[in-house]
Order: sequence, then C-alpha cells, then structure tokens
Amino acid sequence: MEELKKLAAMEAVKRVKDGMVVGLGTGSTAKYAIIEIGKMVREGMEIVGIATSLESERIAKEAGIKLADINDYDAIDITIDGADEVDAHLNLIKGGGGALLREKMVASCTRKEVIIVDERKMVTRFSFPLPVEVVKFGWKRTADKLASLNFNPQLRHGFVTDNGNYILDCHYEAMEDYRKLHDEINSIVGVVENGLFIDMADEVIVGTNDGVKKIKAEGRKNE
Ligand code: A5P
Repeated sequence: MEELKKLAAMEAVKRVKDGMVVGLGTGSTAKYAIIEIGKMVREGMEIVGIATSLESERIAKEAGIKLADINDYDAIDITIDGADEVDAHLNLIKGGGGALLREKMVASCTRKEVIIVDERKMVTRFSFPLPVEVVKFGWKRTADKLASLNFNPQLRHGFVTDNGNYILDCHYEAMEDYRKLHDEINSIVGVVENGLFIDMADEVIVGTNDGVKKIKAEGRKNE
C-alpha cells in the first residue's frame, strides 16, 4: 500500500512549479509528497509551503522547505493532501489524522486542490466514520446533538487537535444528502468543522496496482 501512496504523491508533485505557494497536506500519503517537494527544493526549486498541521510543519522543516503562515498569502497556488475516502463525485471524507480544520481552511484558499490516495479509498458510498472537530467545553452535549442527526459519535480518546479541540468520530448507517448534512453538522453550537469536503477537490490522483489514475473534477471552483 505504501508503494501506491508514493506513486500518487510522485505524480502530484509534478504540478508544483517554481515560485508557487504550496499547501502541504497531512497524513502518511501527503508525507511522501512533502518529502519529494523537499528534494525539489534542494535541487533549486523555490516555493513557499503552508502546512495544514503541526506534524506537516515538522516534516516540511526537516525536508528543508521554507514555510509561511496562511495569513501571509491571499491565495495558495496548489495544495497536495490525502483523504480517508473519495466518492465517485470526488467528495471526500478527511480528518482521520485529526487535521481537518486546517486542511479545509487551506483547501478553501487554494486554486488547485490535488488529493492523493491509494485505490482502497475510492468508494461508491462513504463508510469511514466522519470526524467532527468540537470544542472541549460541553462536548457531550455537542455529541447528543450529533446523535440527533443519526450519528453515533465516539470521542477520539487521548487526542487533542492542533487547535486545542476534541474529535468526535461519527459512525453512521448511511449518509444521504452530504451538502445538507454538512451544513446541519456545522450549525450545531460547539462544532468547529466536519470532515466532509464537498466540491473541494480539483483533481484526485489514485495509486493503483495498474499505475496512476488521474481524475479531474469538471467545472469545479478553479476550472
Ligand atoms: C488528516 O486529518 C487527514 O485528513 C488525512 O489527510 C487523511 O486521514 C489521510 O491520511 P493517510 O494518507 O495517512 O491515510
């Protein structure tokens, strides 16, 4: 599986060009991309990275990538990030690593969001428990409200996000109208953000046993 993640990452970094501001994703797949971008930097490419988590920041620093704050740039040229599941419409579930808030903020400021996954993560229906970042205060009450949306929220024990919040992993039988659900979740007081990324991916690059598969989102925000 590691080989397939690497394959997708190696394809994605071809889109990174000199002078770009580059969003650096979080997770084991995005890590391969960060390391490769580090190599490109050492070979002379000049880019500025915007990390989506403290962990990515650490990996990027180690790789020798110059980093900036998201507040320093009006827009990010390209972001390369992983995902936990990708559906046929290129909607995503993210947050398995707990970095969904910063990942979504970076994605929302990005001209081209490139998602890299191995083939196991391509699904027809989502089943990965939906990560929801909630403030610590009153988290059980927030969980009750998520339960009223037919979720079974489980506290991610011993985990605190980079923003000082908790993650509730929300199990479900089936999710129907993602867009409506996304808004309903985010309208609950105490919820900071949820891991549904709808219409945010511009391209998904899949590492498969038959090579790399590139899927472009038609007519999305940046087309
Ligand atoms: C981090 O919070 C997540 O959104 C990751 O992007 C996602 O979990 C994918 O991680 P892996 O590449 O490690 O599977």
